[in-house]
Amino acid sequence: MRAAVYGFATAWLLAAGPGHADDAAIGREIFDEHCAKCHGKQMQAPAGLAFDLRRFPATEATRFQQAVLKGTAKGMPAWQSQLSAEDIKALWDYVKSGG
Ligand code: HEC
Repeated sequence: MRAAVYGFATAWLLAAGPGHADDAAIGREIFDEHCAKCHGKQMQAPAGLAFDLRRFPATEATRFQQAVLKGTAKGMPAWQSQLSAEDIKALWDYVKSGG
């Protein structure tokens, strides 16, 4: 299912050109697969376990990207070997959407 959604969206993106798509739906798929086990379904983090991403400031795209790529000292893993720049952009669209 994810591959189908992703393939479709990628084809659409290529057709439409970059910068037009809101990738929140793709971001949700990636989030469910990689992030939800700590940050919770719909970003509803189980109390105290991890940062509640619904409260992540929408103005701090660079902070988001760095945290996801490199992780943090307080338990957030680094994802740079597993996620592409497009994946992280889609995740950011999803996080900004607030779930
Ligand atoms: C193994 C558990 C775990 C997984 C999996 C995980 N995180 Fe985290 N994440 C954490 C914890 C714990 C924190 C709080 C760490 C801190 O305060 O520095 C955190 C913090 C964050 C932050 C906030 C960083 C900041 O600048 O304050 C972001 C953004 C984030 N995670 C995004 C993600 C995304 C996107 C994914 C999926 C690709 C993900 N996390 C997967 C545990 C996890």
